Amino acid sequence: MDRKLTEIIKKRYNRTALFYDWMDRMIPDEWRRRVWREARGRVLEVGVGTGANFPFYPPGCQVTAIDFSPGMLARARQKLHLARVAVALQEMDVQHLGFADASFDTVVATCVFCTVPDPVQGLQEINRVCRPEGKIILLEHVRSENRLLGPLMDALNPLVLYFVGSNINRRTVANVKKAGITIEREENLAGNIVKLIIGHPGG
Ligand SMILES: C[S@@+](CC[C@H](N)C(=O)[O-])C[C@H]1O[C@@H](n2cnc3c(N)ncnc32)[C@H](O)[C@@H]1O
Repeated sequence: MDRKLTEIIKKRYNRTALFYDWMDRMIPDEWRRRVWREARGRVLEVGVGTGANFPFYPPGCQVTAIDFSPGMLARARQKLHLARVAVALQEMDVQHLGFADASFDTVVATCVFCTVPDPVQGLQEINRVCRPEGKIILLEHVRSENRLLGPLMDALNPLVLYFVGSNINRRTVANVKKAGITIEREENLAGNIVKLIIGHPGG
């Protein structure tokens, strides 16, 4: 893991926190509902951001929500009242989770592995803390495989990374497999660019 890059991206998200709720309107509530329909039991949300998922947490869950950006977490703290369940917010890096193996029944991330500096390490960590029969639920935008759009996303990526802290050309499905997570289902929500990926811990 590159500590310097992690600090740079964290700082960028502290800045992005100021306007993130406006950007976040690009993610329809229906996608978030689909994600959270699948969550059960002890839930870990990684990269909670400003708390956009709080209204969708299902009753009956116990949620621990982490983010490495104090700026994003400060905004999330102001929205805790929108959650219908108890939420424990913690400042933590998904690349080094401070939880024991198999601590959670469900691990959720929405639009996070486009930003994590070492996405495979972060995915390996969620693979570790999810119990073997548990569920890993990811909503992620990925690089298009279209022969025009893919290279265009590659060309624009440095700009988006600089201004927002996010990569628009990550091959997240391949990263999920590299991390050892077994994919059960993959749904395309917007062309083949936005995906709901449901999996469980693998070897
Ligand atoms: C695009 S925002 C998504 C926020 C939220 N999940 C949502 O759906 O609105 C990405 C979030 O991931 C967080 N993040 C990025 N890398 C992280 C890391 N290594 N550890 C923890 N959080 C991280 C950022 O701080 C940011 O809050």
